[in-house]
Amino acid sequence: IQSLALEEIVKAQSMQELEQVRIKYLGKKGELTGVLRGMGGLSPEERPIVGQIANEVRENIENALSSAVEGVKSIEKNARLAVESIDVTMPGKSQEIGHRHPLNVVLDEIKGIFMGMGFKIAEGPEVETVFYNFDALNAPQNHPSRDLSDTFYISEDILLRTQTSPVQVRTMERSKPPIRVISPGRCFRRDTPDATHSPMFHQIEGLVVDKNITMADLKGTLDHFAKQFFGVGTKTKFRPHYFPFTEPSAEVDVSCFKCQGAGCRVCKGSGWIEILGAGMVHPNVLKVCGIDPDIYSGFAFGMGLDRIAMLKHEIDDIRLFFENDMRFIKQF
Ligand code: PHE
Repeated sequence: IQSLALEEIVKAQSMQELEQVRIKYLGKKGELTGVLRGMGGLSPEERPIVGQIANEVRENIENALSSAVEGVKSIEKNARLAVESIDVTMPGKSQEIGHRHPLNVVLDEIKGIFMGMGFKIAEGPEVETVFYNFDALNAPQNHPSRDLSDTFYISEDILLRTQTSPVQVRTMERSKPPIRVISPGRCFRRDTPDATHSPMFHQIEGLVVDKNITMADLKGTLDHFAKQFFGVGTKTKFRPHYFPFTEPSAEVDVSCFKCQGAGCRVCKGSGWIEILGAGMVHPNVLKVCGIDPDIYSGFAFGMGLDRIAMLKHEIDDIRLFFENDMRFIKQF
């Protein structure tokens, strides 16, 4: 029994195997325990001799077990270390750092250009009243943009603003000329999404009010902006247009900064591309805001941020801005 037990102890590779050896020989139903139990059937002369031998054997097995524990523990530790080892030469897992959305990159650039001309930033609510979005902006009662099919109404007189122009009114109401602000923000229209339409989009409004502000100031300001943003050689062209809140009004084109001629995808061959609406603030709008049109005049403009970002970075689908696919966003 002893030599078999010692042999098995030497072979044991884990604490579990050692414990099994202990149970097998020294446990309640173990082999040595069996010998001790059987001592009742021995003669009185044999009993002390067998008892002594059995005790020695138990002691030897116990000693062998406890000295084997050390060795087995270090075998187990080494095995665990081998599995859990860290290769310090492996490249680390890099944490991805978040970064700015392309629209914010372009917006910051545009803000920088206007702030360089002394403009401040003004903000207004995205949920507006019909008064600020239409009435105060001189929009006739039957103007098509007021339609339920074009505008998201929350109630009869509350809506999601369709343009940033209501911020013009709010700014003029609370501050006296000279006023020089740009106002970027979200706008909403009931358009079916496609490559060039999104029911949520962004505009940047501009407003300047002071004594002796003329169309020449508007032209000079937008011309400077276009040269800064699209490149020094960029020209601007004003085409007559109509907006209820400006008179006269214009649509403004910039000369194509990317390419010219028939093969040009960005400008579709004409060499010009429309980027914004603008004009001289209508006297009715100044009056609603408590500004005397006989003393002050002003200009305003509104441009589509998404559209301008698309032109500059040759992005062909506005929906890419709002899908947040990292493969797109990462490129900026
Ligand atoms: N609000 C106009 C639009 O959404 C743009 C605009 C702004 C035109 C300011 C003139 C002056 O089309």
